[in-house]
Amino acid sequence: MSQDKFYVTTPIYYVNDKPHIGHAYTTILADVLARYNRSLDLPTFFLTGTDEHGQKVQKAAEAKGISPLEQCNDTVVRFQELWRELEITNDKFIRTTDTAHKQVVQDILQDLFDRDLIYKDEYSGFYCVPCERFFTEKDLDANKCCPECQREIQEIIESNYFFRMSQYQEWLIDYIKTHPEFIQPAFRANETLGFLKQPLGDLCISRPKSRLAWGIELPFDKDYVCYVWFDALINYISGIGYKQDDAHFNKWWPASYHLIGKDILTTHTVYWPTMMKAIGIELPETIFAHGWWLTGRDKMSKSLGNVVNPMEMIQKYGVDAFRYFLMAEMTLGQDASFTEEAFVNRYNSDLANDLGNLLSRVVKMNLRHRDGLIPQPNAYTDAEKELMAAVDNAVIEMEKAICDMRLNQGIEHVMNAVRAGNRYMEQTAPWTLAKKGDNERLDTVLYCAAEALRKVSVLLHPVMPGKMADLRKALGLSGGALNDIHIGKLKKSENILSGLEMNDIDALFLRVKLEEIESVQEAPEKKQKKKQKSNQQPAGKNELPEGVITVDDFFKTELKTAKILEAEKVKGADKLLRLQIEVGKEKRQLIAGIAEFYTPEEVVGKTIVVVANLKPAKIRGVESQGMLLAAKTGKELKIVTVDGDISSGASVG
Ligand code: MSP
Repeated sequence: MSQDKFYVTTPIYYVNDKPHIGHAYTTILADVLARYNRSLDLPTFFLTGTDEHGQKVQKAAEAKGISPLEQCNDTVVRFQELWRELEITNDKFIRTTDTAHKQVVQDILQDLFDRDLIYKDEYSGFYCVPCERFFTEKDLDANKCCPECQREIQEIIESNYFFRMSQYQEWLIDYIKTHPEFIQPAFRANETLGFLKQPLGDLCISRPKSRLAWGIELPFDKDYVCYVWFDALINYISGIGYKQDDAHFNKWWPASYHLIGKDILTTHTVYWPTMMKAIGIELPETIFAHGWWLTGRDKMSKSLGNVVNPMEMIQKYGVDAFRYFLMAEMTLGQDASFTEEAFVNRYNSDLANDLGNLLSRVVKMNLRHRDGLIPQPNAYTDAEKELMAAVDNAVIEMEKAICDMRLNQGIEHVMNAVRAGNRYMEQTAPWTLAKKGDNERLDTVLYCAAEALRKVSVLLHPVMPGKMADLRKALGLSGGALNDIHIGKLKKSENILSGLEMNDIDALFLRVKLEEIESVQEAPEKKQKKKQKSNQQPAGKNELPEGVITVDDFFKTELKTAKILEAEKVKGADKLLRLQIEVGKEKRQLIAGIAEFYTPEEVVGKTIVVVANLKPAKIRGVESQGMLLAAKTGKELKIVTVDGDISSGASVG
C-alpha cells in the first residue's frame, strides 16, 4: 500500500430501500480503516454515498406513486442518519444525482464517444432487473434464469450504445496476474480470471428512455440515459474532483482500497478497470471483496424476514458494541453469521467481562487506596514485564492486521492483552498488597494496569470511539491528551498517567441477560408461520397496495396521552433518557432515545403521546413499557405533544 496517503471507498448504496446490516458493515469497516490510518498519521480520505439512478429506484418510486427524485431524497436521509448514529467519519458523501457527478459522467461519455470507444448497435440480450445487468443466453442458469440471483429474466431487443470493453480483455488478464495486490483476497482474483476465460463482450452502457427514463442523459443522444453501473462506478473519481479539481484529484487518486461485497466483484474487477483504462487513469491499489453476513446459516432476505436492522441493534446495545461485534466477528473475505445470541455472548465476554471488568477494578482500587491519583511506578518484576509485553505485542499485531486486512485478528490480540491485564490483577492481587501495606508494589501494579488500559484504548479507539473516550476519561485523560490516539506513539515508552486523577465510572458495558432480550430479527420459522397464516386469508380480501393499512390495522395501536413525571439520563447510554410517566392512573417507565435533543428538565411536565399497548422491552438492560412518539428529520427531533390541557390516559386517534 502507498505509504503517503490513504483513500478508501465503500460501494454507493441503492436508495430503493432503507439501509441494512450489509450496508452498515462495509461502511463501518471503511470507517475503522480510515480511523486507524489517521491514527497512524497518514493523510486519509474516506468516500461513501448513494447510487440513485436506474430501474430499482424508478420501480420503488412508482410503487409509492412518487417521483424518483422524491424516492432518492426520502431514502438518502436514512443512510445519512444511520451513518451519523454509527459515528462514521466520511470526508464526503456523494449522491449520483449531484450536479457535479452528472457532469463528470457526461464528460467521460462524450470523450469516449469522440474517441470511438463508445458506438451504437442493435442488441438482443437477457436482462435481469434486480441485478440491472444484461446476460447472454449461455450465461443463464439451467432454469433460464439470472445466473447471479436466479430470478426471472427478460429478453430484450433494442438499439443501444456500447463501450468497447472487449478490446481490453488480454490487458486486464495480464494486469491481474502481474498485480497480486489488485484483487483481494487472492481467491477472488482467481474468480475474476475464471470469468475472463470466456470471450469478453462489449458493455451496453445505455438504456432507451422509452424503457427507463431515470438516469443521466447521454450527451450525444437525448433518447437514452446512461446504464446505472457505468454512472455509479465513476463516483470513485468524481467524488474526489476528477475533471473538476485537479489538485484534489491528484492528491487522492489512485484509491488505496475499494471495499465491496462479493456479489459486485465482476462490475468492480472487469467493468471498472476497463473503464479506467479507456479513460486513461491509474487503477486503484486494491479492490477488496468481503463476504456476506448470514442470519445463522441463511442468506438474509426481506422475504424470509431475517434481515437485521442496524438501528434496532444500536438502540438496544449501543453503537460501540455493534461496531465491535461486526469488526471482531467477521474474518475478512469470508461469510459470517449474525445471530443475536452470538452478539450477546461476545458482548458479555469481551466487553462486559474482560474489558469492562478490568477498567472497573483499576478505577476502584485507585479511588480506594490512592484517592484516585495514578501513582508513579517502581521497579518492574516479571509480572509487569509480561503484561507490558502482551500490550506491546498487541500494538505490533494491530499495525500488521491493518496492513493485511485482518482486523479481527488485530482485535483478538488486543483482547488478549486485556485478558493478560485481568490475569495480572489476580496474580499481583493489589487488594492484598494494600492490606499488607506494601505501597511500593501497589503503586507499580496500579500504574501498570492503568497503562495497559491506556494503550488498549488507543488500539480500540477506531472500533469503539465513544466507549474508548469514556475509558480514557475514567483514566483521568483530558484536553489534548484525551484525543491523543496515535498508534505510532504507543511504541515510545512515556509515562503520561502518573499524577492524573481517575474518574469513577459506572460499568463501561452493562451485562446483558440473554434470556431477557427480545430479538431484533424474528426467527425465520416464526415469520414463515405468519406468512402461511396470511396466505390462508381469502384472496382479494386483504389485497392492499404495499404500505397501505386498514383502519382496523391502525386501531391495533393504542395511542394515549401521558404526563412525564420524572426524567433522568440512563447511565452509560448517552442517547437515552429514563422517563417515569403517568398514563391515567397507571405509572410506567419509558426508555426514550431523546437525550441528544432534550435535557431531563426540559421534558418533565410535558403531556406526550405514547404507544400504550407495546410489549415491554429491555433497552440496554432497562425495562421500557411503551414508546413515545416523536417527529424526526436527520438532525432534529421533536416530541409529539398535545395542543392544550388534557388529562393523561386520554386515547389518541
Ligand atoms: N449500488 C450498487 C453498488 C455500486 S458501487 C459503484 C449496489 N448497492 S447495494 O445497496 O445493493 O449493495 C451495496 C453493498 O451491500 C454491496 O457491496 C453488497 O455486497 C452489500 N451487501 C448486501 N447484503 C449484504 C450482506 N448480507 N452482508 C454483507 N454485505 C452485503 O450493489
